[in-house]
Amino acid sequence: MSEKDTTFDRLQERLWSFAEHRVITVAGKTGILAELANGPVAIESMAQKLGLAAMPTGKIVRALTALGLAEPAGDEYALVSGLKEIFAPGPRDFTPFLEHSHFMYDRWGQSLEPWLRGEKWETQKRDPAGIRLFDEAMKAMGGQIARRAADLMDLTRVEKMLDVGGGTGTYAIEFAKRAPNLKAVVLDMPEVAEHGRELGKNTDISDRVEFTGGDYMDPQCYGEGHDLVLLANVLHQETVERASTMVRLGAEALSPGGMLAVIDFSIDEKRRENILGTLFAINMRSFGDTYPESVIHGWFSDAGLGDHGRIDIDPHRWILYANKPA
Ligand SMILES: C[S@@+](CC[C@H](N)C(=O)[O-])C[C@H]1O[C@@H](n2cnc3c(N)ncnc32)[C@H](O)[C@@H]1O
Repeated sequence: MSEKDTTFDRLQERLWSFAEHRVITVAGKTGILAELANGPVAIESMAQKLGLAAMPTGKIVRALTALGLAEPAGDEYALVSGLKEIFAPGPRDFTPFLEHSHFMYDRWGQSLEPWLRGEKWETQKRDPAGIRLFDEAMKAMGGQIARRAADLMDLTRVEKMLDVGGGTGTYAIEFAKRAPNLKAVVLDMPEVAEHGRELGKNTDISDRVEFTGGDYMDPQCYGEGHDLVLLANVLHQETVERASTMVRLGAEALSPGGMLAVIDFSIDEKRRENILGTLFAINMRSFGDTYPESVIHGWFSDAGLGDHGRIDIDPHRWILYANKPA
């Protein structure tokens, strides 16, 4: 096969990826993925249980199989083992993120072309229910990444941590579970902080994770003397000016020797190699961006931090960190 043919094949696959996305998200929304997580299950009985028509259910399940997300067991089907635990109902359930991405790409469909023509990308302000849905989605995705980040970071000396824009505390909670002496403050908008407090009630680490409502551009909200200030998935939603200010505020709130860590999508210096990083930059339109390592390290230096480093969480995300001089 010539290179031209394989290039065309890749293009075809990319063009169908929207259909893939829809198949996956509708399978999450209708409960197909949860049933497959508990499988093997026959298509007929799954369709009946979920109130779906059998023929289309079969087509969706077979497409999921071709995509490598499900596998056959005789005439029955199950999710592949790596996905079972994240689609079974429970604390690791990834379904809320699917629902979020479904809405998100609906909005892309309406807004991308006008935005490209220089028009405004209309954003709908989220109502409290929308804020909660968004937060559930961040928790579902964040849970996966937070566990990996906690495996990779040395948290042994962290006793006081601030999680800036920390949502309902996905990272703070995961870090507190790993480090028994760690106490965390999670700063987010008042509605989100309230939701975090509700969710955290009666958990075994609720006395070590505190939620505070406020604006992360307000220096008063940062407190002081933190061993770790975490900026997870927040700089990308801000302009250069605001993001660099947040790094400075975070650095000021550190104790001597403390660490500032940024967890975010990775992108190469020319911003044209990482698929997730470049696509996510579009999602952040004009108010944010996927920032390369040199830009973020520049903010670290401007904020007086040294000992810069980087840990790759996976091909798409990194931890960039620096320390306040002791
Ligand atoms: C993409 S989410 C990241 C949540 C969490 N850090 C994570 O990685 O899972 C961004 C968070 O920033 C919060 N946020 C946005 N603007 C904020 C502001 N001005 N002050 C405080 N929090 C804000 C949002 O409510 C949301 O929880």
